[in-house]
Amino acid sequence: MNGKYKALWLDEQDNLVVLDQRVLPFVESTVTITNTNECVEAIKNMTVRGAGVIGNTAAFGIFLAARECNGNLVQLENRAKLIRESRPTAVNLMWAVDRMMKVARKSNDMLNDLKLEAIEICDEDCQTSKNIADAGADIFEEIMKKQNITTINVLTHCNAGWLAIVDDGTALAPIYEAKRRGIDIHVWVDETRPRNQGANLTAWELGKADINHTVIADNTGGHLMQHGMVDVCITGADRVSRGGDAANKIGTYLKSLAAHDNNIPFYIALPSSTFDFEIVDGIKEIPIEIRGEDEVKFIRGLDKHGEYSELQIVPTASKALNYGFDVTPSRLITGLISERGVCKADQKEIETMFKDLL
Ligand code: MRU
Repeated sequence: MNGKYKALWLDEQDNLVVLDQRVLPFVESTVTITNTNECVEAIKNMTVRGAGVIGNTAAFGIFLAARECNGNLVQLENRAKLIRESRPTAVNLMWAVDRMMKVARKSNDMLNDLKLEAIEICDEDCQTSKNIADAGADIFEEIMKKQNITTINVLTHCNAGWLAIVDDGTALAPIYEAKRRGIDIHVWVDETRPRNQGANLTAWELGKADINHTVIADNTGGHLMQHGMVDVCITGADRVSRGGDAANKIGTYLKSLAAHDNNIPFYIALPSSTFDFEIVDGIKEIPIEIRGEDEVKFIRGLDKHGEYSELQIVPTASKALNYGFDVTPSRLITGLISERGVCKADQKEIETMFKDLL
């Protein structure tokens, strides 16, 4: 690869170009990021989002920050801190900044080395996505064989496709691979309020790939599971503890409870950079982002004239609370699918599979 990926790429001036995910699927536009402040802003306001792509943007952000301060390491450390703190939950952000800064601190050719390292991080994510695609599609095939079914119904929450992790994403990667293998697959797409990353982004991605899918209101999944209409659930993750607890977009926990109650396998797909090996108890220790109340009080989309617009759906005087993520405890997770294969969401298994990273 050479720095050109589907959700982001470097232009000829070595600025970072990203798809503007705030206005998809109705407007396809890009934003160009040239410096630290623009990088921080793009992550904060969710022009870019999804754990992996946040990490990739931060990695290129460190390169741009180094260029901005002419390789002055003290100034770069300050800028790196701003990027590192731009969102709190997805640990790929901190992981990418720390990895880039390690290179910066020992480099004699800082700009060149940082550019290559950011590209290397993205290329590794592409390989991760391929491995997850294979392992996840194998799981789908096993489920179909075991249940003797010819169509598999998969439920996913939020967006963990190529808009969230370069190449084919994490949770959506096995779905793309299933399609390539000729498996008859149908995907239930949770709309994922309040920002609707399922309805806006996952549905758009799957539609582009001609994958059979249906968008459902967030509250529908439990009913479908009770009536045998879901064979497997798969989501991404923003941070997974050493004990196997997984933070993902708010609402994931409720889906895992319904899956457990109905004996439906519930998988989390993630790159190893999404593990936070420093913590064991995800519920107590993973920092959960609280975003602005307007994301709950207003909804965006096309109006009846086809114009992209925003509508208020909550009385002006009412308060709203907007937690971005929740934590699914390890006991509700059937398996973790990473670039290294599948392991149980269990501290011992995680420590064995990832012992070189501890
Ligand atoms: O707030 P976001 O959109 O950045 O949240 C991230 C997500 O889309 C999900 O939680 C996703 O399932 C994990 S990111 C690969």
